[in-house]
Amino acid sequence: MIPFKYGVFVTGTDFCGRKKELNLLKEYISSSMRVYIVGERRTGKSSLLMETARKMPGYRFIYVDLRSIVTRGQLCERIANGLNRQGKTKQAFSKLMKAIASLRPEVSIDSITGDLKLSVSPEIQVSDVDIDKLLEMAGEKKTVVVFDEFQDIQRIKGYETILGSMRTVIQSQTNTSYIFCGSTFNRMTDLFTDRRSAFYNSAQRMLLEAIDETEFTCFLADRFKSGGRLPGDNGIKRIIEFGRGNPGDIQKLCIGVWNQTAPGDNIDQAAVTEGLANMCALESDSFRERLDSLSKNQILCLSALLKREEPFTLSNQFASRAGLGSYSVAKSAIKGLTEKDVLLKKGHSWVMSNPFLAHWLHLSDLV
Ligand SMILES: Nc1ncnc2c1ncn2[C@@H]1O[C@H](COP(=O)(O)OP(=O)(O)O)[C@@H](O)[C@H]1O
Ligand SMILES: [Mg+2]
Repeated sequence: MIPFKYGVFVTGTDFCGRKKELNLLKEYISSSMRVYIVGERRTGKSSLLMETARKMPGYRFIYVDLRSIVTRGQLCERIANGLNRQGKTKQAFSKLMKAIASLRPEVSIDSITGDLKLSVSPEIQVSDVDIDKLLEMAGEKKTVVVFDEFQDIQRIKGYETILGSMRTVIQSQTNTSYIFCGSTFNRMTDLFTDRRSAFYNSAQRMLLEAIDETEFTCFLADRFKSGGRLPGDNGIKRIIEFGRGNPGDIQKLCIGVWNQTAPGDNIDQAAVTEGLANMCALESDSFRERLDSLSKNQILCLSALLKREEPFTLSNQFASRAGLGSYSVAKSAIKGLTEKDVLLKKGHSWVMSNPFLAHWLHLSDLV
């Protein structure tokens, strides 16, 4: 069995380190605080929340994922399903159904989990009051309401009024903790620090950064050893460097290295290079599709960026070197690449958000 996990929430023995963050989060929750957690994609935000929930068994965690949400109906659906996953009793279910009766929710059985699933038809008119009613049901003692990928609430038309009325309900729930999690730095920061936002100054910021290198090195070395591989420091160091301290990218590369090695093999630089090639080959179709979805200017921009050291900054000089004519054309290409999650904004500069895509592009002559 492959001892590395990628693309799933990790908890328990699969969860490495983050002691400081776990303790801080536990303290915030015990004090019924409101917290917003920001960190790059795949840095372990959702896993940190799941692990916190596991370590706080006396608390009710209502998990609501807002990824790709676009309507009020979906927002109700997701909060209702979060409540329902926690409730489990017949009484809790009837109370929930009663609260959202006006939305005429349909009930089905989730084919994967076997749980009851509620859905709201797109034709139903949903008001901010309907959303508030659901939040009111969540507001109990020893309860934590988690909104994951919270920045996506901005995709809902008129989301400002939703935030306004949500804030009023949340403010009245003094014994309930709320955690808002997000991976789009600027959008999350705007929601909580822009004076015009209804959520301005409403939550404590928590930044989830790179995973501790020493702890993660031991964790990965043990996993390689469990399958008879011989990890040398250089190999693992190279893997962690490649993943820039991002545990998701690091575990993904470990899977590639694992696939290319057998018991008794060294995990050295050569093994890492092969593992990397293995992972990039597995993803080459999706990378090609990504490339096809880019505009001509975005490709020109990417090509110029890849000839430079990361992080990249935008300048007039860069625009002309990339053959993009003007600063504003280059700026809009970079904006598009950021929206498509090819680039990640860090302060005033950008880096490639997916190191595997960056490596694949470097190897291919496509840009
Ligand atoms: N503390 C951790 N220990 C080990 N691996 C982790 C840890 N946190 C995250 N990961 C790795 O990162 C991947 C993505 O984690 P996830 O919690 O989904 O990140 P995020 O919510 O920030 O996108 C996991 O599948 C796992 O491979
Ligand atoms: Mg997540």
